[in-house]
Formats: sequence, C-alpha cells, structure tokens
Amino acid sequence: MTANGAADVFLLDGEPIPFAPGQTVMQAALAAGHYIPHLCFHHDFKPHGSCKVCTVRVDGATTASCTLPAQAGMSVECKADDLEENRRTLVQMLFVEGNHFCPSCEKSGNCLLQAVAYDLGVLDADLDYFFPSRPLDASHPDLLLDFNRCILCELCVRASAEVDGKHVFALSGRGIGKHLIVNAESGRLVDTTVAVTDKAVDVCPVGVIIRKRVGFAVPIGRRRFDARPVSAQALEDAPRRAPPEAAP
Ligand code: FES
Repeated sequence: MTANGAADVFLLDGEPIPFAPGQTVMQAALAAGHYIPHLCFHHDFKPHGSCKVCTVRVDGATTASCTLPAQAGMSVECKADDLEENRRTLVQMLFVEGNHFCPSCEKSGNCLLQAVAYDLGVLDADLDYFFPSRPLDASHPDLLLDFNRCILCELCVRASAEVDGKHVFALSGRGIGKHLIVNAESGRLVDTTVAVTDKAVDVCPVGVIIRKRVGFAVPIGRRRFDARPVSAQALEDAPRRAPPEAAP
C-alpha cells in the first residue's frame, strides 16, 4: 500500500497490476483481468507450483507465477515468445506422457488441459507418444477412474485431504514413474469413502474422475470451454476481491 492509500502495483508485460498484500502474481493478474496460462493452480487451494505452465520471467529469471508473491515495482514478463513456446512444449509433453484421446473423452469441452492447449495454439503433440499402460478403475458404483488422463496436478489429492477430510487419493513413485493412486489396501475406489459429492470429484480438471451415467448429458459443442476459451473463462471465474485503486 502506498502512502496515499493506493494499492501497490507491479508491471505485467508493461501493464500496471494492482495487488493486495499476500497476493501472488497469478492471483493479482487474474483479479485485474490479465490471464496467465495455468493448470495446477486453483483459486480454492494453496498454490502448488508443479505444472510450470504459468512460468513468467522476472529480472531475467524464470519462476512460477502462481507461487510468486507480488511485490511493488517488479516487472514481470509473461507473453514473451520463448515463454509461450515453453508452455506449448509442457502441454505437449503432458499429452504424450498420458493417453488423451480427446474425440472419445467425455470430458472433452470441459477439460482444462484441452482448453489450455487450444488457447496456446497446440494442435498436435509433435513428440513421440509414450502410450503408457495405465488402468481404469470402474469398481465404484457411481464413479469411474481413468488414470490415462492424469496430469499430476494433485488437485484431487489436495481436495480430498483438505476439503473432504478423506485422503482418498495420493501420488506414488518418482520422476516419469510418478502416478496417481487410490488410498485403499485393494487400491480400488470402491473400498474408499469417496462420494460423488466430494470436492475431489468436482475439482479434477481433466477426465480422470468421472461420474458414471452423465458423461454426455451436455452435448459436445455446448460445454464450458466450447462457449469461450479458457483465457476468457479464467478471468470470469477469478475472485474479484479488487485491491484498492492503483496510484495514479
Ligand atoms: Fe503455476 Fe501450475 S499453475 S505451476
């Protein structure tokens, strides 16, 4: 806060962005109507900093904007060609590391990975596909787990632990072997206390946690990101707790 009560500002691609104490660059940018591409960031959870799609440059160093505290006077570069190219590559890597068959996926049009890819202009993977062997878990009467589509954002892990209080999901393994697991001795969803109303079910940004029997209730073409690109949708969804007016 400046001496005259106006909000501090930082520069994002040369534009002044007001911020409140404690806000990250990502939070302040979205609240001010400036989209920074992201996958693992979610307004309801503490920043996670794992996907790196939100990487920006400050003073020559690259860093995740979702974990970067906003500071008065800092100059943040987001839309530089090399940063956009790195984002495209990160998204392409996610597509080839899993099995994402968008045309047949019931999450198509509601999928954040697909939406961010389109927004970044990613139309093919341009890398060799891994085609990993990953299981499905259809054991639960109301939920399906398709591990092929996991992007390791840990949103379900965080939601189940922090909101649902159940710890149904976890990540296991390291590096390229890291994968989502179900916290049950059998490893099957049916042997957990998960419910269709859980935050963990709602928060999955891709098509891993799927409610059964409603997959195509909303036809493709009329889904969330069919109506408007993620860059516009994210600004609409951003909390508008606007900080005080920026100093003139
Ligand atoms: Fe910042 Fe994923 S959105 S690292």
